[in-house]
Amino acid sequence: MTAVVISGTGIYQPPFTITNAELVASFNAYVEQQNALHADAIAAGTREPLTPSSVEFIEKASGIKQRYVMDKEGILDINLMYPRFKERSDDELSLMAEIAVDAARKAMAQAGKTGQDIDAVICSSANMQRAYPAMAIEIQQAIGARGYGFDMNVACSAATFALEQAVNAIRSGSATCVLVVNPEITSAHQEWKDRDCHFIFGDVCTATIVERADTATAADQWDVLGSQLATQFSNNIRNNFGFMNRSEDSDPLARDKTFRQEGRKVFKEVVPVAAAHIETQLAKLSLEPTQVRRYWLHQANQSMNQLVIRKLVGQEPTADLAPLILDEYANTASAGSVIAFHQHRADLQSGDVGVICSFGAGYSVGSLVLRKR
Ligand code: COA
Repeated sequence: MTAVVISGTGIYQPPFTITNAELVASFNAYVEQQNALHADAIAAGTREPLTPSSVEFIEKASGIKQRYVMDKEGILDINLMYPRFKERSDDELSLMAEIAVDAARKAMAQAGKTGQDIDAVICSSANMQRAYPAMAIEIQQAIGARGYGFDMNVACSAATFALEQAVNAIRSGSATCVLVVNPEITSAHQEWKDRDCHFIFGDVCTATIVERADTATAADQWDVLGSQLATQFSNNIRNNFGFMNRSEDSDPLARDKTFRQEGRKVFKEVVPVAAAHIETQLAKLSLEPTQVRRYWLHQANQSMNQLVIRKLVGQEPTADLAPLILDEYANTASAGSVIAFHQHRADLQSGDVGVICSFGAGYSVGSLVLRKR
C-alpha cells in the first residue's frame, strides 16, 4: 500500500477578535432594546422577555474566552448582529477562496511544494459560500495547481472526512499531492441573537498537504497509519438554509436558517461515540489509547474533550495530552482539530503517535492516527 504523509499545515487567522466581555455587552444591550420595544406585550404576558447572557456562563460551560472574526462591527451592532461583507464581482477572488489561498500558501511553504506539485484540491467546510462553481476549483486556479478540485461538507467533521478522501486518492493513484482546505466563515451562519449559542463560533481557515511519502521533502512529516469515519443521523445540530427555501416559500431569515442545536443532548450523545470510535480505531492498529502521545481533538467544548480523554486513558487530561485551542479560537467547526495539530506538534519526537479526531453535526466522527517520521 502506498505510504501517505501529512507534510504541511497552515492557518489563516481573521483580523478581528471579539472577547466574551465585548460579545456579552452587545448581546445584553440587544436584550434591553428588545425588551423595551416589546414592554407592553411582555407586561400583558403575550411575549416572553429575552434573558441576558453572561461571561461566567460562557467560560464555565464551554471554555471559550474569545473568537476571531472576519467582521467585528456588524456582529456587535445590535441593529444587525451579523458580519457584513462587501459583495464581490464574479471576476474577483471570492472571500472563502481568499482565506483558503492564504492558509494553503503557508501549508505549501511548510511542505516545500509549489502549485504545480499539487494535483488535487479538496475544499471542505460546514458551509460553502455558493453552490457552484466549486470553491476548490477557484482555489486550484489561484494557487496554480494541476488535476482536479471538489467541495464537500460534513459540518464539524468536514476536515477529517476530507483528509481521508485525500489519503484514499493518493492510495488509489488518482492523485499524488493533495491540498485540503477548510475555510470556516462560521460567523455568517451563527445565530448571534440566540443566547444559547451566540458565543459558540469563530472564523478561521486551515490547510493541510497530504502526499505520497516518496515525494515528501519537508522536515516534519507524519505517516497516516489509518483513518476511520462514522456517521449517525441526528437533528440535534441543524441548519435548514438551502436552495429550496424559495420554492418552499419559507422565510430566509427564520431562526431555522442559521445554526441551532440541542447542546446538552449533543454533549451527552457524542462523547461516548467519539471515545468508542477512537478506541476501536486504535485497536485495529494494535495500539492502546495510553500509547498515544497526543490527541488533537475537535474543539467545541472543553469539558467534552476532558470526558473523551478520561474515557480513553482513565485519568485527568492534561494540556500536553489533549491541547485546547478553543479558548482562543472558539468552535471553528471542522477546523478545530487541525488548528490543534498545527499549533501543538513541534515538540513530538520521531515515532510518537497522535490522533486527530472531530465530532459534531450529522452526527459525524472522523479520526486519523498519525506517527511522526
Ligand atoms: N448566559 C447565561 N446563561 C445561559 C446562557 C448564556 N449565554 N445560555 C444558556 N444559559 C442558561 C440556560 O438557560 C440554563 O439555565 P437553567 O438551568 O436555569 O435552565 C443553563 O444556562 C444551562 O444551559 P444549557 O444549555 O443546558 O448549558 P450547557 O451546560 O449544556 O452548555 C453548551 C451549553 C452549548 C456550551 C454545551 O451544551 C455544549 O457545548 N454542548 C456541545 C455542543 C457541541 O459540541 N456542538 C457541536 C457544534 S458544532
